[in-house]
Amino acid sequence: MIASTPDTTNAAMLSFVPAEMADPAPYHLLTSIVAPRPIAWVSTISAEGVPNLAPYSFYNAVAGFPPTIMLSVSYRRREPKEKDTLRNVKATGEFVSHVVDETMAEAMLQTSIEFSYGVSEFDQTGLKSLPSIDVCPPRIKNASVAMECKVTQIMPVEGTTNVMILGRVIRFHVRKDLYRPELGLVNTVAMQPITRLGGSKEYTKGGELFFLDPPKSRLDA
Ligand SMILES: Cc1cc2nc3c(=O)[nH]c(=O)nc-3n(C[C@H](O)[C@H](O)[C@H](O)COP(=O)(O)O)c2cc1C
Repeated sequence: MIASTPDTTNAAMLSFVPAEMADPAPYHLLTSIVAPRPIAWVSTISAEGVPNLAPYSFYNAVAGFPPTIMLSVSYRRREPKEKDTLRNVKATGEFVSHVVDETMAEAMLQTSIEFSYGVSEFDQTGLKSLPSIDVCPPRIKNASVAMECKVTQIMPVEGTTNVMILGRVIRFHVRKDLYRPELGLVNTVAMQPITRLGGSKEYTKGGELFFLDPPKSRLDA
């Protein structure tokens, strides 16, 4: 049971103060609120040439042109503190981010196991890889979407145990049947991405599509 304080301004609400909560309670509350989160399934390669694969749901798009994405990697509590993804990205400046669809959920989970540095999750899970075109980390053969990225910034998240990695997408790979050339969009519903909610085991799938017309811009009036 997590301690809450009464909300003195609205009796229908509960209040929580992260500074008064024990770790990891704020993490659980936050990730159940900032949800659903997309999952970046990230391949990297070590300086010695060993590929690595791991999922990251502190992940999003942060700029459209040039297209830029971010992921946030926490330090481990035990040694080595640096996760393999961060170590490889620092060494090579490259990664590939894949969409996790419903068919690949179990395989994705297997790649979140903390294998020793130098052990490839491709080998451990039997996932097949393909060479990338513009970067060294390989991509997942059966992924519906892969984005080849060059790292643009690596930034500590002030006051936390996380490091944010920003990467520019320099090539998109999209499965043919998912691409809608008339719109320049992927059919996101058909792509069947899984997304993460709070805690360690809540996910969603099967989003429902609805449309909202954008408001007329005041500047256009
Ligand atoms: C769905 C999912 C999302 C995850 N998101 C993150 C995340 O955003 N940041 C993080 O540091 N770890 C996250 N993890 C845990 C890492 O995947 C895990 O620590 C992994 O072993 C790291 O692998 P690496 O050392 O090969 O980079 C997530 C795990 C799962 C299953």
